[in-house]
This record gives sequence, C-alpha cells and structure tokens, in this order.
Amino acid sequence: MSFNAEAFIRKMPKAELHIHIEGTLEPEMMMELAKRNGVTLPYDTVKEIRAAYQFGSLQDFLDLYYAGMSVLKSERDFFDLTFAYLTRMHQENTRHVEIFFDPQGHTERGVSFDTVLDGISSALETAQREYGITSRIIMCFLRHLSEESAFETLTHACRCKNRIFGVGLDSSEKGHPPSKFSRVYRAAREEGFIPVAHAGEEGPSSYVCEALDDLKVQRIDHGNRALEDPSLVRRIAREKIPLTVCPLSNKRLQVCPDLTKHPLRQMLDAGLIVTINSDDPSYFGGYLTENFLAITKALSLDRHQLATLARNAFIASFLPDQDKQKALDAFDAYAKGFL
Ligand code: ADE
Ligand code: ZN
Repeated sequence: MSFNAEAFIRKMPKAELHIHIEGTLEPEMMMELAKRNGVTLPYDTVKEIRAAYQFGSLQDFLDLYYAGMSVLKSERDFFDLTFAYLTRMHQENTRHVEIFFDPQGHTERGVSFDTVLDGISSALETAQREYGITSRIIMCFLRHLSEESAFETLTHACRCKNRIFGVGLDSSEKGHPPSKFSRVYRAAREEGFIPVAHAGEEGPSSYVCEALDDLKVQRIDHGNRALEDPSLVRRIAREKIPLTVCPLSNKRLQVCPDLTKHPLRQMLDAGLIVTINSDDPSYFGGYLTENFLAITKALSLDRHQLATLARNAFIASFLPDQDKQKALDAFDAYAKGFL
C-alpha cells in the first residue's frame, strides 16, 4: 500500500516555531473587532479584505499587516486572537508553539505593552490547561524602527521575564541589517533572553552571517538566501543552527513564487535542521498543516523527509531536553502506528 502523506500529515504531532500572532488575524475577526472597538476599516466585507491580500514583496504585506493590527485594542482582543490560533492548532494536533509578537506595532498606536502581553499569555495558559499545548513567547523588535525604540521595548520585557523567553527581529529586512541591533541583543542576552532573528528572507546572505556573529542567534527565521553562500551553509550545518522555513509565506511574498523550486530539499541535503512553519497564516493562505501539505506536494517529499521535518521542530524548539525527548518518542510512536 502506498504511503498516504496527507493522512499522515493531518494527524501527526506537530510543533510550530515561526508564527506571528498578529499574522493569525482572520478577516472575519478583523471585521468583528473593528465593530467591537469602533475602528473604521477601508473594507466593507471579508471578501474585500481577502482580495487585498496580493503581495509583490515583503513590504506590500507589512503595510496591510500593520493596518490590520489597528483593530486590536484590549486585553480581550489579544486573548481572542491568540486563543483562536491555539484552538486551530489543537485541531491540527500541534503540541508546542513558539509565538512571536510585535509590541512596537501596538505601543506606537497607544496600546500598552501589558495589555498585549496579558492577553496573549493568558490565552497560552488556558490552552495549556485545556489542550495540553506548551508554548514560549518570543518578543520581536521591529527592525525598521530605531535602536532607541528597541531598547525601550527591552525595558518592558525585563519586567516580564517570567513570561517572555526570547527576543526576535522582524519587519522590513532590506536596509535594516542585524548589526543595527547588536547592542540591544547584547543587553537582551545579558538579561537572559534567548536570541533569534529573521534573516535571509529578502535580505542577503551577509545578514544571516551578521545574525550569527553580531546577534549570536540560536535560530534563523527563514534563512533562504543563506544558500547563496556555500561556506555559510556548511557553518549553519556544523553549528546546528535551525532554520524556521515558511513555504506558503515564501510563495505569497514572492521569495519563491513557485514552490516546486523551493530550496527546502537543498537545505535537507546539506544537513540543515529545517522546520516547517506558517509565519502569518491568515495572510498567506494556510496554517501549519497546509504548509506541510503544500511543500510535500510541490517537492514530492517522501515519508522519511516528512518525519525529519516534523521531528526537527521538536529538536529545534526551546523545550527542555526531557520534554523534547518525550515529544519525539510520541512522534515516533505515531509514525510506527501509522505505517
Ligand atoms: N512580520 C510578520 N511576518 C513577517 C515576515 N515574514 N518577515 C518579516 N517580518 C514579518
Ligand atoms: Zn516571520
């Protein structure tokens, strides 16, 4: 009997390591929160919102992403947003999530840091209780804003160390190299935050080098363009730096418009610890399962490659070793039972 990849993917235990919680805002919720909070949107219907999601570049997307955030105002809004994502993840048998949030996208428009974090963390606690989903919160600095603004944001995080595990770097990549934030990251590391950063999505491979050398990141988010530098690829393999790859995002942001040409296979062949993620699922047309399905189909991945990708997410997570092993054992039991 041939291997039914779709059935295997749908039920397999999963972890997601690259998800912007603001990127899970579905058009239906955007309309509902706009009404709840008296915000006027430039759209009248859900269909109009979806129709606007045609992106020529990362910046095209970011413009809509920041505009969409304007409906998020209260702790309850952030709770509802986060819990909706976690309910979806529960339905997809996702066991662990590491969530990015963009505090500056909210503090800049008058919503307090604590309102945002309280809503997100209370949804994560509820999901752990009700669904058994474990989680980590990673606070991102917006790289198009100043070093000063990032330092101010870090001050807030330092008050909330019990809830924020790591720091990340996102938003417009070109022209905003990781080195712009070397001093902020040094301070963040000294405060005990685990560093990760988006690099090599649209920006050059040298930004991936900077993220490793200057920011001392433990994971690279995206990293596609690292493949342009063979010595860098060897280094990423040698140092076992995981890459959180986002296939549908890459397609929709024109990083890789044709998934049959996606570099995931080269990454696996080079021995990199690659994981599959959704990035901003409501904007890019699919959550974690859809990302696995799309890339498996486009690249005709076999069951060994699929199992490697799924296992890598637990290996690359920031779970303690004992919990990683338990999750891997559960995955292996699932795979054995399936076959
Ligand atoms: N913020 C949300 N999604 C992002 C992405 N794919 N790249 C950079 N910043 C982001
Ligand atoms: Zn991202």
